[in-house]
Amino acid sequence: MPAPVVRLSVLNADQPTPLVESRFDQWGETTHRPEGLERWAIELDPSGEWVIAGSVSAHQVWYGPNQGSMAINIGISLRPEFRGSGIAQVAVCDLVAQLHDRGIARVEASTDVDNTPAQRLLSRCGFTYEGVAHGAQVRADGRHDLQIWSHLQVTNG
Ligand SMILES: CC(C)(COP(=O)(O)OP(=O)(O)OC[C@H]1O[C@@H](n2cnc3c(N)ncnc32)[C@H](O)[C@@H]1OP(=O)(O)O)[C@@H](O)C(=O)NCCC(=O)NCCS
Repeated sequence: MPAPVVRLSVLNADQPTPLVESRFDQWGETTHRPEGLERWAIELDPSGEWVIAGSVSAHQVWYGPNQGSMAINIGISLRPEFRGSGIAQVAVCDLVAQLHDRGIARVEASTDVDNTPAQRLLSRCGFTYEGVAHGAQVRADGRHDLQIWSHLQVTNG
Protein backbone atom coordinates (compact mmCIF):
# COMPACT_ATOMS: atom_id res chain seq x y z
CA MET A 1 0.00 0.00 0.00
CA PRO A 2 1.50 3.38 -0.94
CA ALA A 3 1.83 5.91 1.91
CA PRO A 4 -0.83 8.64 1.73
CA VAL A 5 0.25 12.13 0.64
CA VAL A 6 -0.02 14.33 3.72
CA ARG A 7 1.11 17.84 4.62
CA LEU A 8 1.34 19.64 7.97
CA SER A 9 0.07 23.25 7.94
CA VAL A 10 0.89 25.52 10.88
CA LEU A 11 -2.13 26.60 12.93
CA ASN A 12 -1.73 30.10 14.33
CA ALA A 13 -2.78 30.91 17.89
CA ASP A 14 -6.09 32.39 16.68
CA GLN A 15 -7.01 29.30 14.62
CA PRO A 16 -9.05 26.60 16.39
CA THR A 17 -7.79 23.03 16.55
CA PRO A 18 -9.85 20.93 14.10
CA LEU A 19 -12.55 19.21 16.13
CA VAL A 20 -11.94 15.49 16.57
CA GLU A 21 -14.30 13.25 18.49
CA SER A 22 -12.29 11.00 20.78
CA ARG A 23 -12.73 9.79 24.34
CA PHE A 24 -9.05 10.65 24.87
CA ASP A 25 -9.68 14.35 24.11
CA GLN A 26 -12.55 15.01 26.52
CA TRP A 27 -10.82 17.45 28.86
CA GLY A 28 -13.69 19.15 30.64
CA GLU A 29 -12.59 22.63 31.70
CA THR A 30 -9.08 23.53 30.53
CA THR A 31 -7.08 26.04 32.56
CA HIS A 32 -3.55 25.79 31.16
CA ARG A 33 -1.87 26.25 27.79
CA PRO A 34 1.20 24.01 27.61
CA GLU A 35 4.53 25.83 27.36
CA GLY A 36 5.69 26.40 23.80
CA LEU A 37 2.56 24.88 22.29
CA GLU A 38 2.59 24.53 18.49
CA ARG A 39 -0.18 23.00 16.37
CA TRP A 40 -0.50 21.85 12.78
CA ALA A 41 -3.48 20.76 10.72
CA ILE A 42 -2.92 17.39 9.01
CA GLU A 43 -4.05 17.87 5.45
CA LEU A 44 -4.68 15.17 2.90
CA ASP A 45 -4.96 15.46 -0.86
CA PRO A 46 -7.12 12.51 -1.91
CA SER A 47 -8.47 14.07 -5.10
CA GLY A 48 -6.84 17.38 -5.92
CA GLU A 49 -8.20 19.40 -2.99
CA TRP A 50 -6.57 19.50 0.45
CA VAL A 51 -8.89 18.44 3.26
CA ILE A 52 -8.24 18.53 7.02
CA ALA A 53 -7.90 15.02 8.39
CA GLY A 54 -6.87 15.97 11.96
CA SER A 55 -4.11 17.73 13.83
CA VAL A 56 -0.78 17.27 15.56
CA SER A 57 0.59 19.31 18.43
CA ALA A 58 3.90 19.75 20.20
CA HIS A 59 4.78 21.32 23.55
CA GLN A 60 7.86 21.70 25.69
CA VAL A 61 8.73 19.48 28.66
CA TRP A 62 11.69 20.63 30.77
CA TYR A 63 13.83 18.03 32.58
CA GLY A 64 16.43 20.58 33.75
CA PRO A 65 17.28 24.30 33.54
CA ASN A 66 19.20 24.19 30.26
CA GLN A 67 18.28 23.91 26.60
CA GLY A 68 19.58 20.36 26.26
CA SER A 69 17.11 19.24 28.94
CA MET A 70 14.09 20.33 26.94
CA ALA A 71 12.05 17.57 25.33
CA ILE A 72 9.07 18.00 23.05
CA ASN A 73 5.90 16.06 23.74
CA ILE A 74 3.70 15.46 20.71
CA GLY A 75 0.04 14.60 20.32
CA ILE A 76 -2.16 13.59 17.38
CA SER A 77 -5.84 13.23 16.60
CA LEU A 78 -7.42 12.08 13.34
CA ARG A 79 -11.06 12.52 12.44
CA PRO A 80 -12.64 9.04 12.61
CA GLU A 81 -13.25 8.78 8.86
CA PHE A 82 -9.51 9.23 8.18
CA ARG A 83 -8.26 6.51 10.54
CA GLY A 84 -6.90 3.17 9.39
CA SER A 85 -5.06 4.30 6.26
CA GLY A 86 -1.59 5.35 7.42
CA ILE A 87 -2.18 9.12 7.58
CA ALA A 88 -1.15 9.37 11.24
CA GLN A 89 2.06 7.45 10.60
CA VAL A 90 3.11 9.84 7.83
CA ALA A 91 2.19 12.89 9.95
CA VAL A 92 4.00 11.71 13.09
CA CYS A 93 7.12 10.59 11.21
CA ASP A 94 7.23 13.97 9.44
CA LEU A 95 6.77 15.91 12.70
CA VAL A 96 9.41 13.86 14.55
CA ALA A 97 11.91 14.44 11.71
CA GLN A 98 11.18 18.20 11.77
CA LEU A 99 11.72 18.36 15.54
CA HIS A 100 15.00 16.42 15.42
CA ASP A 101 16.12 18.71 12.55
CA ARG A 102 15.53 21.65 14.91
CA GLY A 103 17.96 20.05 17.37
CA ILE A 104 15.43 18.50 19.74
CA ALA A 105 17.17 15.36 21.01
CA ARG A 106 14.17 13.83 22.77
CA VAL A 107 10.68 13.70 21.28
CA GLU A 108 8.18 12.03 23.54
CA ALA A 109 4.54 11.05 23.53
CA SER A 110 2.25 10.08 26.35
CA THR A 111 -0.80 8.01 25.64
CA ASP A 112 -3.53 6.41 27.68
CA VAL A 113 -2.76 2.86 28.83
CA ASP A 114 -6.00 1.83 27.04
CA ASN A 115 -5.16 3.56 23.75
CA THR A 116 -3.89 0.66 21.67
CA PRO A 117 -4.23 2.44 18.26
CA ALA A 118 -1.94 5.22 19.52
CA GLN A 119 0.51 2.67 20.94
CA ARG A 120 0.65 0.80 17.61
CA LEU A 121 1.21 4.12 15.85
CA LEU A 122 4.10 5.13 18.12
CA SER A 123 5.71 1.73 17.73
CA ARG A 124 5.42 1.93 13.91
CA CYS A 125 7.03 5.40 14.03
CA GLY A 126 10.07 4.05 15.90
CA PHE A 127 9.20 5.23 19.41
CA THR A 128 10.39 3.20 22.41
CA TYR A 129 8.03 2.36 25.26
CA GLU A 130 9.48 3.57 28.55
CA GLY A 131 6.89 2.90 31.23
CA VAL A 132 3.78 4.20 32.97
CA ALA A 133 3.27 7.60 34.57
CA HIS A 134 0.66 6.70 37.16
CA GLY A 135 -2.29 9.03 37.63
CA ALA A 136 -0.68 11.59 35.36
CA GLN A 137 -3.69 12.94 33.46
CA VAL A 138 -7.12 14.17 34.45
CA ARG A 139 -9.86 14.20 31.83
CA ALA A 140 -13.58 14.82 32.13
CA ASP A 141 -14.13 11.22 33.24
CA GLY A 142 -11.41 11.15 35.91
CA ARG A 143 -7.71 10.44 36.42
CA HIS A 144 -5.75 8.21 34.02
CA ASP A 145 -2.43 6.37 33.86
CA LEU A 146 -0.31 7.24 30.81
CA GLN A 147 2.23 5.24 28.87
CA ILE A 148 5.41 7.23 28.11
CA TRP A 149 7.15 6.69 24.75
CA SER A 150 10.26 8.38 23.38
CA HIS A 151 12.02 8.92 20.06
CA LEU A 152 15.67 9.90 20.58
CA GLN A 153 17.77 11.61 17.94
CA VAL A 154 20.46 9.36 16.57
CA THR A 155 23.85 11.05 16.96
CA ASN A 156 27.24 9.97 15.69
CA GLY A 157 29.74 9.12 18.40
C1 LIG B 1 -4.17 7.49 17.45
C2 LIG B 1 -4.66 7.63 16.02
C3 LIG B 1 -4.16 8.93 15.44
C4 LIG B 1 -4.10 6.44 15.22
O1 LIG B 1 -4.67 6.48 13.94
P1 LIG B 1 -4.52 5.25 12.92
O2 LIG B 1 -5.49 5.49 11.82
O3 LIG B 1 -4.61 3.96 13.66
O4 LIG B 1 -3.02 5.39 12.39
P2 LIG B 1 -2.54 5.49 10.88
O5 LIG B 1 -3.20 6.63 10.20
O6 LIG B 1 -1.05 5.46 10.92
O7 LIG B 1 -3.12 4.17 10.21
C5 LIG B 1 -2.54 2.92 10.55
C6 LIG B 1 -3.54 1.83 10.36
O8 LIG B 1 -3.98 1.87 9.00
C7 LIG B 1 -3.56 0.66 8.34
N1 LIG B 1 -3.11 1.08 6.99
C8 LIG B 1 -3.90 1.00 5.90
N2 LIG B 1 -3.25 1.50 4.83
C9 LIG B 1 -2.03 1.90 5.26
C10 LIG B 1 -0.92 2.52 4.61
N3 LIG B 1 -0.93 2.80 3.31
N4 LIG B 1 0.17 2.82 5.35
C11 LIG B 1 0.21 2.54 6.65
N5 LIG B 1 -0.83 1.97 7.35
C12 LIG B 1 -1.96 1.65 6.64
C13 LIG B 1 -2.47 0.05 9.21
O9 LIG B 1 -2.45 -1.35 9.10
C14 LIG B 1 -2.92 0.49 10.60
O10 LIG B 1 -3.93 -0.31 11.11
P3 LIG B 1 -3.70 -1.16 12.47
O11 LIG B 1 -3.22 -0.21 13.54
O12 LIG B 1 -5.06 -1.73 12.75
O13 LIG B 1 -2.66 -2.16 12.16
C15 LIG B 1 -6.21 7.59 15.95
O14 LIG B 1 -6.66 6.36 16.49
C16 LIG B 1 -6.90 8.74 16.66
O15 LIG B 1 -6.97 9.86 16.17
N6 LIG B 1 -7.45 8.44 17.85
C17 LIG B 1 -8.17 9.44 18.63
C18 LIG B 1 -7.23 10.43 19.27
C19 LIG B 1 -6.12 9.76 19.99
O16 LIG B 1 -6.28 8.73 20.63
N7 LIG B 1 -4.94 10.38 19.90
C20 LIG B 1 -3.75 9.89 20.53
C21 LIG B 1 -3.62 10.48 21.86
S1 LIG B 1 -1.95 10.21 22.43
